[in-house]
Amino acid sequence: MQSSFAPAHHFPLPDGFGRNLYYGFQQAKALLSVAHKTVSDRLTEWVAQPDKSIETLSPETLLELQRRNLALLERDWEEAQQGVYPQSLLFDWDAENVLRHYPQVWLDLPAIWDRVQRRQYQEFATPIERADYPKYYLQNFHHQTDGYLSDRSAELYDLQVELLFNGSANAMRRRILAPLKQGLQQAFATTPPSQQRVLDIACGTGYTLQGLRAALPKVSLYGIDLSTAYLRKANQILAKIPGELPQLAQANAENLPYQDHYFHGTTSVFLFHELPATARQNVINEAYRVTQPGGTFVICDSMQLPDTPEFAPMMKNFTAIFHEPYYRHYICDDLVARLETAGFVVVEVYNHFVSKYWVARKPT
Ligand SMILES: C[S@@+](CC[C@H](N)C(=O)[O-])C[C@H]1O[C@@H](n2cnc3c(N)ncnc32)[C@H](O)[C@@H]1O
Repeated sequence: MQSSFAPAHHFPLPDGFGRNLYYGFQQAKALLSVAHKTVSDRLTEWVAQPDKSIETLSPETLLELQRRNLALLERDWEEAQQGVYPQSLLFDWDAENVLRHYPQVWLDLPAIWDRVQRRQYQEFATPIERADYPKYYLQNFHHQTDGYLSDRSAELYDLQVELLFNGSANAMRRRILAPLKQGLQQAFATTPPSQQRVLDIACGTGYTLQGLRAALPKVSLYGIDLSTAYLRKANQILAKIPGELPQLAQANAENLPYQDHYFHGTTSVFLFHELPATARQNVINEAYRVTQPGGTFVICDSMQLPDTPEFAPMMKNFTAIFHEPYYRHYICDDLVARLETAGFVVVEVYNHFVSKYWVARKPT
């Protein structure tokens, strides 16, 4: 990935200075994101008048949110210092991409307002073969123009996610790296990293694979996604990184094109809230099938209602602002039960900022 703001690439920063630089960098992204969302969400509400209104968050909720974001950044910094991944990853920021695409985020808003006003959630400008995709997937998720099915959508996606998560999207994605690395070291200590394989399920534009490449430079990486446009974008981003290129394939995560027990580790980030319940179970069953005995499966997705009831207004706002047809079911779904149904042993479940993680192991 192009990194125009990456002072740590070549010169490791002294601890105090580097840490402050990282916090300042993240703080700036958070301020810009909050300003952007405040204006764009209110404009959308005013112009398009969606079915559900946006709830104003209380000062306590905002403070708690800020506290959890800081705790996330603290962890992100610490794990870089511990060598889970290189410090340079913390500063990877494609300024050119942001500057090029930010105006397009605004230019796309009138089309979004139009669809919201017309209550249209399944419109695609690009001709698509509907039979090639599961029905639940053909949605303008987040009201995105073309859903996941165009190059334009793939170009804007990363910036939109960064704005949504106040610049902390990658810090949340990186929280899968430590448990995965630990799982690989514990279960496959005698297998050289170059003979290990890790699959990222629903890799999108490849940011999780980017983190995996940095944390596991010798491991063979694989990514699947249903969107060829997102895979194309992932390929562009990943091709710029030195080392073996991850192998990308278009596939439905409910039916993975790999033999049983092929991977030493599997991951999936921000997929499950966009799946209906049956598909969620099918994907977990498939992750189980392709993972080796002793292998680790790490999921990162949205926080859920039972463990963070204080953030209920934010979860409600998420469905008011975005088209997310499966989110309401997801936030109360028991993924531990689903993982156990598939055969996994759940090792750990935890939250960071507005995300939640499940670390599961396939018994030997
Ligand atoms: C919210 S995005 C997350 C992408 C990426 N993991 C990230 O961290 O940004 C959801 C992704 O899941 C993919 N997806 C949704 N349903 C899928 C399915 N059944 N099989 C494969 N990919 C799917 C979409 O194409 C999209 O790239």
